[in-house]
Amino acid sequence: MKLKIKIEPGNSISITAIEAALCRLQCGQFLCPEEQQVRLYINKHFGSEKRKCKSGKMAEWLIKIRTIVFDEYIGNLIANGDINGVLNLGAGLDFRFLRLKLPDAFKWIECDNGEIVTIKRDILNNIQYFSNYILYDMDITNLAKIEKIANDLSKKSKWLVLTEGLLCYFSEDQVTTLARFLSRLEAICYWAFDLNSPWAVSNMNARQKTKFNRNSFSVKFAPEKGNLFFADPPWKILQSTNMASYAKSKGFPIPQPWSILLKLSKRQIQDEFEKACSITLMKKVT
Ligand SMILES: C[S@@+](CC[C@H](N)C(=O)[O-])C[C@H]1O[C@@H](n2cnc3c(N)ncnc32)[C@H](O)[C@@H]1O
Repeated sequence: MKLKIKIEPGNSISITAIEAALCRLQCGQFLCPEEQQVRLYINKHFGSEKRKCKSGKMAEWLIKIRTIVFDEYIGNLIANGDINGVLNLGAGLDFRFLRLKLPDAFKWIECDNGEIVTIKRDILNNIQYFSNYILYDMDITNLAKIEKIANDLSKKSKWLVLTEGLLCYFSEDQVTTLARFLSRLEAICYWAFDLNSPWAVSNMNARQKTKFNRNSFSVKFAPEKGNLFFADPPWKILQSTNMASYAKSKGFPIPQPWSILLKLSKRQIQDEFEKACSITLMKKVT
């Protein structure tokens, strides 16, 4: 079977979803058996992209930690009965709705662009999944479309919005607009996202230029004040996890040669690395 679309790594943001999925496949025991289908599919259709991706051990490590922390946040919200639905914006090729144990009536809605939605539907053709799942092909910056989806949700339901690996591609103005927009949607009660520091973003962009020769999109959003950028009412920070500290506490060592390079670097670089990436869970307080 031939895939109808061809993703050019330099030109399409969709390649970030494939890179993230390839990195996530290193999560080993944290993945569910169905996710092996994703591995097979990506290897079959994106073998050449895989070689071009070269995300590297550090990206694999970061996405592994990111995935586990997001899974924990969502798992806890579900276990406590705090949410009965997830709206995953920029869902990419993540299959968390298969990985997590979702209650029967739980609803899961995802949005991404046409290229990724085509691939995801193709993968899902071979997988049994639960019926309360909907996947939309749309431009997330078109907030009117999100509003339409949200207006169809029961006002009494309690939803979590996920923007994993997405905000970094937005400008500060776009993120501010999104935060205000989500705060107006009645059914949306929680929002989880990851954030990179300005130091991390400048390193990521330098790496993208040299390693991937990518010019058409770059990583942008990295507020100086970190997640306090979002601290205005009605949003309240409920939980924040520093990825480096989390990895240390759970025994996920920084991969080589980065661990050695870090040990040899100046204190300032070590400090910047420690605060480079974090994951935040916010609650809407009304
Ligand atoms: C880095 S990937 C993260 C994917 C997924 N959340 C994960 O963690 O594996 C970013 C995703 O956002 C999607 N994306 C970025 N901007 C978008 C937009 N304006 N409209 C729709 N999707 C968008 C990309 O197609 C991609 O799937």
